[in-house]
Amino acid sequence: MGNILTFEHVDAGYGRVKILHDLSFSVEEGEVFGVIGPNGCGKSTMFNALIGLISCSHGKITFDGHDITKMKPDTRCHLGIGRTYQVPRPFEGMSVFENVLVAAVHGANKSEHEGRQVALDALKLTELYEKREIRAGELTLLDRKRLEIARALGTQPKLLLLDEVAAGLTEAEVQDVIAMVKNLRAAGYSIIWIEHVIQTMVEATNHLMCMSDGHELLIGDPRPVMDSKVVEEVYLGVEDEDE
Ligand SMILES: Nc1ncnc2c1ncn2[C@@H]1O[C@H](COP(=O)(O)OP(=O)(O)O)[C@@H](O)[C@H]1O
Ligand SMILES: [Mg+2]
Repeated sequence: MGNILTFEHVDAGYGRVKILHDLSFSVEEGEVFGVIGPNGCGKSTMFNALIGLISCSHGKITFDGHDITKMKPDTRCHLGIGRTYQVPRPFEGMSVFENVLVAAVHGANKSEHEGRQVALDALKLTELYEKREIRAGELTLLDRKRLEIARALGTQPKLLLLDEVAAGLTEAEVQDVIAMVKNLRAAGYSIIWIEHVIQTMVEATNHLMCMSDGHELLIGDPRPVMDSKVVEEVYLGVEDEDE
């Protein structure tokens, strides 16, 4: 299969502060591409550059055959990039179903009638269907994370961006998230999954990228990346030691 996304030598940041430095990687269609790296290394910023919240000062981003480097965020969304946020931001007073319906109507440009079906499908995939009438503000953290994913699915993405969906969850809940990500991949979505809980990534990803200081440190099969000494060092922040 071809690549659904390519970053080529991307520089980007906030104002004059450059966070991403010469970042290059590719995501294959239909895969789960994991992204790890220490806090503050630029993982969420990479998502911001990808969805067009910040602009690139150098380099090129190609999505699904389109050069999206200079496109506006809503154009990118309509092309099929759906993002979740690290901190879920549902409309607390609206029901679970209404939250996803809003995403479908506005993000995917659906009529309300079509949007209802899209929303119900998204709720089934995220196992929220039975809770669709509950107010979003009453959900547990795990269900809020599910809703965050359902809202992204409501925009009918080809590429789904998951930002630390497992953070703050118990070990058992993390297993639920892994099962859900596997279901999403089986349903045909391409996925980029940022997670700080690195053990989570090995069994659920096809490739893994470790970032350090806004740049790709290592990309490859998940296990060797996870086990590599350079990755261990950037996490521990230790200098190379002789053994
Ligand atoms: N909106 C912002 N304005 C300025 N600096 C930011 C903003 N968001 C993040 N940063 C900075 O960018 C760097 C990378 O942050 P981030 O991409 O959130 O890291 P990660 O997701 O890997 O933990 C950090 O130094 C952070 O302080
Ligand atoms: Mg982050």
